[in-house]
Amino acid sequence: MFTLDALGTPLNPSATKVLLLGSGELGKEVAIACQRLGVEVHAADRYDNAPAQQVAHYAYTLDMSDAKALKALAEKIRPDLIVPEIEALATDALAELEKEGFTVIPTANATQLTMNREGIRRLAAEELGLPTSAYAFAETFAEFEIAVGQMGYPCVVKPVMSSSGKGQSVIRSEEDIVAAWEYAMSGGRVHAEKVIVERFVDFDYEITLLTVRSIDPATGKPATWFCEPIGHRQESGDYVESWQPMPMTEAALDTARSVAARITNALGGRGVFGVELFISGDDVYFSEVSPRPHDTGMVTMASQRFSEFELHARAILGLPIDVTLTSPGASAVIYGGCEAEDVSFTGLAEALALPEVEVRLFGKPECHERRRMGVAIATAEDVDTARQRASEAAQRIHAHPVN
Ligand SMILES: Nc1ncnc2c1ncn2[C@@H]1O[C@H](COP(=O)(O)OP(=O)(O)O)[C@@H](O)[C@H]1O
Ligand SMILES: [Mg+2]
Repeated sequence: MFTLDALGTPLNPSATKVLLLGSGELGKEVAIACQRLGVEVHAADRYDNAPAQQVAHYAYTLDMSDAKALKALAEKIRPDLIVPEIEALATDALAELEKEGFTVIPTANATQLTMNREGIRRLAAEELGLPTSAYAFAETFAEFEIAVGQMGYPCVVKPVMSSSGKGQSVIRSEEDIVAAWEYAMSGGRVHAEKVIVERFVDFDYEITLLTVRSIDPATGKPATWFCEPIGHRQESGDYVESWQPMPMTEAALDTARSVAARITNALGGRGVFGVELFISGDDVYFSEVSPRPHDTGMVTMASQRFSEFELHARAILGLPIDVTLTSPGASAVIYGGCEAEDVSFTGLAEALALPEVEVRLFGKPECHERRRMGVAIATAEDVDTARQRASEAAQRIHAHPVN
């Protein structure tokens, strides 16, 4: 694994280099955090002018699910750190690169396990014994009917290789079974794959527990830090707003931290992890984990002394971590609301006229109705006020097609 003895100078032979695999809005903030530390940033994505590419030293466009292309890129750049931003990567190539001596964040194995719901669920539930919803896997419609029968109604269906709610639906009665199967088969990342059927967890609320693994400067040894819990609201499997801190009972928070420690410890390596948990009373269910900053964690750009992106930049370099919450905060997503190649935004001045509000527009070169184009972030004395400010600010901003 890469250890930082001294930080080089970008664009020089001494440069400390990061290769970002995926250059969306989360990658953009990681790139900015790395830039500020004087790290040389290389940003890759499947399309040109992706958000992080706009703030990187170098940009590359390629099919990152192509193992050969991914390996060739890494071997050409020879980065000190390979930092995945998305799940849909040729993770077998990452494993080979790791064997050749490259450092993959957090580890190649973690990227392999988390890109497939089966890998991470079996690790969490069957190897580590963490509490999860009941679940079953199915590859054929016949297996699917049996799985649904075992889980009962309501249950949740997801392609094992999917994200952001794609192909995901809730089955409430027998009548939904065929449609749920067909939707799942069309929503995965790859054709003809498995689905997971999960028993529906009637949770009181859900959280992301940002968990950071880096080196403790006091001991020189690996250590784990927990940010304050982030509450969030999802619509059709996609996050619409988040806030921090989410008030929790002491017992639930203790269990949440213990679950997060165990899963991140099993995945290993360094960096930020977004551990997704469902909370019911004092009971905690592990749902899934991103071995990288989490979309619901964008609130930390206003609520923490160091955002999850700055923490990721520090952690991957093995630098000290400070998870201090400086104010209650909230984030609300700004959706495209239209279909266009080029858009311009109005309402920015109106949004920023609200107290303690910040806006990020990601600069995505294509706009879609439900595409996340930006985020409004607010702080306040309390979480409820911060949520109102963030969602009011998000509503004031509109994308308009330009032709
Ligand atoms: N078993 C479940 N019971 C209740 N709600 C669920 C369940 N699984 C998923 N959800 C809801 O759907 C959201 C998205 O599911 P998730 O598994 O996190 O998929 P993704 O990888 O697309 O984020 C969750 O945050 C939660 O709100
Ligand atoms: Mg999720």
